[in-house]
Amino acid sequence: RHVPVITIDGPTASGKGTLASAVAEALGYHFLDSGAVYRATALSALRAGLAPDDEAALAALARALPLAFRGRRILLDGEEVQEQLRREDVGLLASRIASLGAVRQALRQLQLDHRRVPGLVADGRDMGTVVFPQADLKVFLTASAATRAGRRHAQLLARGESANIDSLRLDLESRDERDRNRTHAPLRPAEDAVLLDNSALSVDETVAAVLKAWESRR
Ligand code: C5P
Repeated sequence: RHVPVITIDGPTASGKGTLASAVAEALGYHFLDSGAVYRATALSALRAGLAPDDEAALAALARALPLAFRGRRILLDGEEVQEQLRREDVGLLASRIASLGAVRQALRQLQLDHRRVPGLVADGRDMGTVVFPQADLKVFLTASAATRAGRRHAQLLARGESANIDSLRLDLESRDERDRNRTHAPLRPAEDAVLLDNSALSVDETVAAVLKAWESRR
């Protein structure tokens, strides 16, 4: 039986996670936040004191990553880490180690295993290009840098953290730059991706656009 996959890729803070989980919910599908997989590897590396360029050690760590998704909870070796994974230092290290080919390769199977009946919605940077190239629907979600920085800012404030919107913008632009220019699985739309810019769309409008694209494919 064919297990359908919808991929949602795009730059930092474009709203991929919110969109992907809402689409998964609407369709009753599983949801994979692949960024959390890289973030969990980063958190694990920080705890183990690994150097950010020690590719062999990081790949070994990634290959044995004791990571489990339980609804909204993310367990690393049995401990709930979903809050810690959102830390800026964890995101920054995730982006650095995500440029290492051996780390990406080590995390591939873990991501593929999320494809289970009745279907999967996966979000990240290379879901449609590398991990699920045969996906049934590929979306590439973008928003202007100003919009994305504004959203990240609001998220941090809501969590009671302080943040400077200009430095957030610089930070996300440099992260995207690294994601786009890396050798392994660079951030780019798949050739058959639907491009969606949600700078001027609400969450509901964005979800509706993807569900409509999904309906028209079936
Ligand atoms: O999406 P999120 O910010 O959680 O991802 C953290 C980092 O992990 C990104 O900056 C990116 O470098 C990396 N990543 C990746 N491929 C994915 C998902 C995330 O390289 N599929």
